[in-house]
Amino acid sequence: MPTMYEIYQKHSFEYDELVAHEDYLNHIPEYLKNCFDFQGKTVLEFGTGTGRMTRMYAGLSDKVYCFDRSAHMLEKASEALSEYGNKIEFSVCDNLNIDSLDVSADIVIQGWSFGHTVSDNESQIEKTVNKLVVDCNVRLKRGGSLVFLESLGTNTESPEAPNKNLKDFYSELEGRHGFSRTVLETDYRFDSNEDAARIMGFFFGEEMGSNLKFTRDGIVREYTGVWQKKI
Ligand SMILES: C[S@@+](CC[C@H](N)C(=O)[O-])C[C@H]1O[C@@H](n2cnc3c(N)ncnc32)[C@H](O)[C@@H]1O
Repeated sequence: MPTMYEIYQKHSFEYDELVAHEDYLNHIPEYLKNCFDFQGKTVLEFGTGTGRMTRMYAGLSDKVYCFDRSAHMLEKASEALSEYGNKIEFSVCDNLNIDSLDVSADIVIQGWSFGHTVSDNESQIEKTVNKLVVDCNVRLKRGGSLVFLESLGTNTESPEAPNKNLKDFYSELEGRHGFSRTVLETDYRFDSNEDAARIMGFFFGEEMGSNLKFTRDGIVREYTGVWQKKI
């Protein structure tokens, strides 16, 4: 069973297969389109992965800069989003090097990536969150928005940070940095319970794969938080 970082380095196909089954009721794209004006805007996206979130707004935006630490994930995103090739630029960048960039945007968005960076620096959560928020703020044009999506639990009954590091991350965003939180239901739907166990087990580990609580056949509950702040 590969680690999560091995998945990001070598298994973009399997990652993409997982997220293709997530949020089958499309609550995330609906929320993003209703709450943020992407039309004609420049967007910076960090931790782009295979580009599933980029697809939700790229058609509306004028210019999109996509970053990720993994060239392998960006390669898959670039293939998947080839129809928008004239307006998306893909570059390798670690979330801790955002201050080295020289681009600005109306919207800075990231999904399920800063949480990794915060967890990788668990002895300095306050400092790491501060750096991520400040570096994103600097890249934002006046009147722009910061939009962070992170997990509030997979295969769980109610929305809750899945571990202490993420709990502390969310508290910093809300308490110190003035972000507001919205909770979305982002349940997975698979063709069968066996598919769910295989695909989710590959990413979340065999233990979750063999202990899925199906709300209906092929449906696994999940909650996602959207943290947002206007500058
Ligand atoms: C859970 S995936 C999320 C991908 C995408 N945002 C999505 O919605 O599917 C996490 C992504 O963050 C990237 N990542 C993890 N740590 C990173 C870091 N320190 N700097 C930049 N990217 C990082 C990984 O390579 C991976 O593509």
